[in-house]
Amino acid sequence: MELINRILSEMTLEEKVGQLNLVTAGQAVTGPVANGDMTENIRAGFVGGVFNLWGRDAVRAAQKLAVEESRLSVPLFFGLDVLHGHRTIFPVPLAEAGAFDVELWGRTARAAAVEAAADGIDLTFAPMLDVARDPRWGRIVEAPGEDPLVAAEFAAAKVKGFQGEGLSAQGSIAATAKHFVGGGAALAGREYAAADISERTLHEVYLPPFAAAVAAGCAAIMPAFNSVAGVPMTAHAELLRGYLRTRLAFEGVIISDYTAVPELVQHGVAADLVEAAALALKAGIDVDMVSGAYLHGLPQALERGLIEETDIDAAVRRVLTLKRNLGLFENPYRRLDASEAATCDHGALALEAARRSITLLTNRDILPLPADVRRIAVVGPLADARAEMLGPWYAAGRAESCVTILEGLRAALPAREIRHHPGVAIEGDDCSGVDAACALCATVDAVVLCVGESAGMSGEAASRASPGLPGRQREFAEAILATGAPVIAVLSSGRPLIASWLIERARATLATWLLGDMAGKAVADVLTGRFNPTARLAATWPREVGQIPIFYATRSSGRPPDAGNPFTSRYLDIPTEPLFPFGHGLSYAQVQLYNLRTNVERFEIRDDAELEVRVDVANRGTIATEETVFLFVRDPVASVARPAMELKAWAKSFLDAGAAKTTVFTLSIESFSFPGKNMQRRCEPGAFEILVGLNADPKTLRSIRVEAVPTPNPQA
Ligand code: NOJ
Repeated sequence: MELINRILSEMTLEEKVGQLNLVTAGQAVTGPVANGDMTENIRAGFVGGVFNLWGRDAVRAAQKLAVEESRLSVPLFFGLDVLHGHRTIFPVPLAEAGAFDVELWGRTARAAAVEAAADGIDLTFAPMLDVARDPRWGRIVEAPGEDPLVAAEFAAAKVKGFQGEGLSAQGSIAATAKHFVGGGAALAGREYAAADISERTLHEVYLPPFAAAVAAGCAAIMPAFNSVAGVPMTAHAELLRGYLRTRLAFEGVIISDYTAVPELVQHGVAADLVEAAALALKAGIDVDMVSGAYLHGLPQALERGLIEETDIDAAVRRVLTLKRNLGLFENPYRRLDASEAATCDHGALALEAARRSITLLTNRDILPLPADVRRIAVVGPLADARAEMLGPWYAAGRAESCVTILEGLRAALPAREIRHHPGVAIEGDDCSGVDAACALCATVDAVVLCVGESAGMSGEAASRASPGLPGRQREFAEAILATGAPVIAVLSSGRPLIASWLIERARATLATWLLGDMAGKAVADVLTGRFNPTARLAATWPREVGQIPIFYATRSSGRPPDAGNPFTSRYLDIPTEPLFPFGHGLSYAQVQLYNLRTNVERFEIRDDAELEVRVDVANRGTIATEETVFLFVRDPVASVARPAMELKAWAKSFLDAGAAKTTVFTLSIESFSFPGKNMQRRCEPGAFEILVGLNADPKTLRSIRVEAVPTPNPQA
């Protein structure tokens, strides 16, 4: 602390606000605005951190300016959006979430951190923890799906992976949990739009992943662009100071999103830049990303009496503390001196992650590809689309490193005849290749139809009102289906694609999302059966756009859907059920669950209450398999209507062909608790239903009841 106090006492007001100023160097473009002469500003002490700059020489040169040429020699920190890999690109988060593997989530974050650190990066703007239930919203690709428990586990795994043994340890970088909070609830799935979220839903759904990130020691948090119930998150004192700082005791740095501070004017809560800067600082934002609103606005806000200098000091102290924790005062070049990345090859991990992120949605006796499929047509605009495999946030990743689906299949099946034609482009109107592609399909035993979205069609500023196949891909796919050849649809996308017409007619469908460097190899491994698919959907897959938002944990209605009764909660034109439920995903084995049981029928409502749930899982297939078993809880009668069911745990079962094993879950009182009317968590006496199965389809779940009883009063 002494060091920080000393620096703070020596700083001019300009140097203080300089520490709160984060500028982009523009090596990657992640927003619209430039920020003046970076070199001069660093020298003058007007810059606290730089992002979108990486590589040893570039980072060293910028750091040198701060350390050797600025008055107080305060080192800069360097940030970057390292979302799913730095140089080695792993599957996009929505895909990786489908692995339902906390350990894998941690390992890919660790690998990304090691690579990023060696490129001079101190901090990543990740993990992204927005619970996402709307596939129109392009940022669903960056999110761990629709479920708060999954997002919370993802949060903890990623934070620990990025931060490792501690911020100053070799290969560690600081994590920034984002976007706090509610971006996933953007109105109509439109990026940056307002969210109107009830306090209950905030506490049940959107806040828990951030609580988990804070509990895991997350160094920074980034507020969301959107407003929640009329209050822009960049000015949301109640949630930033009240919830994060006071309730969760979060002591890290709060970094605004890109130009989010001046955007308070457009939101309509500040009259000018000065007011915007004051509002943001007062609400708890320490660092202003890119806009210069703090640099130019805070001194004036001080003059106008809108803030106190102690508000600025508190924010500066947090930034300096982050730099100290990162080890930058000790050695400003510490990450650049590390030699770890040079010796690390994360290709094997990228392949493992990619394989384990592929969801087999349907399979009508065609996969794995039988030996008598000798001639294969690999068609469609995503078949040989190297750059698209990277996904929307690829940091220092390179298209040249990606294996395309065509290449993967050719390498995996050297003895078979593999023909290729793209047919159409991802977007655009040119259908001139359709006939040639169809002609190719008429002569083969199977068609691998690679369709979907480009990498830029999901991620930031990539909402789609009609999240189906773009361009002329539907006509193309219809033409291919019409040839009568057996079609295996391979979907590349950053969201569940609304393409029921295709999925229902293809002999098999794989959701391959955007898998990163090893995409094609992983897809080939699944198609050929070298890898038995394991992933499950982390987000419900809608049948139609009109069902959105759609997720399994909805609350009941007084009139739940009933096909036989028109006066119930349903659609006239389509079923209410999704095409695939949360947790759906096939393997090449056939698995059955049976004998669901608990160790007790009732438990007392006590903090240390524990309940054991067991279920037997048998592999009736002829291939070893990894199955994910989900456990949900339903509280049928409570003081507040509870969701139809809520995920409370999942477990992996690894089964050889013909083997059976018992899966054991241990539940605590937490699994039966919810925020009561006053938002305090409570467990109410009464019956609970425990539902266990391979996905969230209520028709397939096994269930058992237990009862929570009050603890006997010792006085009685
Ligand atoms: C805006 C995005 O919302 C955020 O996620 C990202 O970290 C910043 N730009 C910086 O690139």
